[in-house]
Amino acid sequence: MADPSDAPPWATLLIRLDATTSAGPDGGIAFDKLESIGTLLALDDDVTGVETRDPTAAGCDAETPELVVYTHPDALERLQQRALDLAQAADVAIGCERAVHCGEAWRDVWKRFYEPMVFGNPPGPGSLLLRPSWIARRPGDPERELVLDPGRAFGTGLHATTRLCLERLCTLADAGVTATTMLDLGCGSGILALAAARLFDGLHRIVAIDFDAEASATALENAELNGLHERMEVHTGTLADLPANQQFDLVTANIRTEVLVPIATHLRQRITPGGRAILSGILEEEIATVAQAYAAARFETDHDLEGGEREMGIWRALDLRNPEDAR
Ligand SMILES: C[S@@+](CC[C@H](N)C(=O)[O-])C[C@H]1O[C@@H](n2cnc3c(N)ncnc32)[C@H](O)[C@@H]1O
Repeated sequence: MADPSDAPPWATLLIRLDATTSAGPDGGIAFDKLESIGTLLALDDDVTGVETRDPTAAGCDAETPELVVYTHPDALERLQQRALDLAQAADVAIGCERAVHCGEAWRDVWKRFYEPMVFGNPPGPGSLLLRPSWIARRPGDPERELVLDPGRAFGTGLHATTRLCLERLCTLADAGVTATTMLDLGCGSGILALAAARLFDGLHRIVAIDFDAEASATALENAELNGLHERMEVHTGTLADLPANQQFDLVTANIRTEVLVPIATHLRQRITPGGRAILSGILEEEIATVAQAYAAARFETDHDLEGGEREMGIWRALDLRNPEDAR
């Protein structure tokens, strides 16, 4: 058997939220920012996993919110600088500690922090289990499941902007809303397209598109791993690259505001009359701008089934509809 001490050393970068900030009135916002920094760091090629430690979570012994970034020793200095730059851009105070570890055990230690997640209300038809491949199903888990391992285009578990979209997909599926065609714009790992494929049995054409070739490759891999590739087309590109005559009953777009605003009219033209859009990736202070741009493009707010403007921390999502009489 190989001697564990022969394994290459591994490294961790501990990123801690400043104690005064986390205890202050803006502590929640600062934690959201820290999580977003973790999501961005997880996209780095040298990062194998990111653990989020929330002191308010059961069993967590951290005193302030922390991220642990798992990497290799050569990348530590660069990642620390990247973390500090991201924190400065987000206007949040952090401290960093670097450590190098020996032994094989460290290699996969981050996996311990990925928990299966359940969306919707089990056992309803709109409930979905999301689990990494190394965790088996448990009794009572929703029948519909996606197996997704964290990778470069997935990040650390799930960001609030993704959760907002997943929750809405579950609500719609639970209520028996039907759709036959779907577009996932800015698909990343493909999680939203894959979730919709699992939740809506009638979806027969699902188009997932991302301008990042690594993301679209990951989305295709995930579709194959989940046996959903035959219902999914994956493209590298933007909205403008899709054939002009393609329309969809359901669109998810978890992208940033600066991408969402200029495409409002083009996006509506891609949605069938009465079709629905779920927009996410919008910050609290940006929601009015996005809502105005989409109202000007003749979208209606989808107040059906508790939709409309939804929030999670500093993030907002908008549920919209193309009017039934749209042309
Ligand atoms: C916040 S991630 C969302 C990923 C995934 N849909 C989710 O909900 O977790 C946004 C994705 O949009 C992609 N993206 C950004 N701007 C884009 C554009 N103009 N056209 C296509 N994809 C874009 C990025 O590469 C990234 O993968």
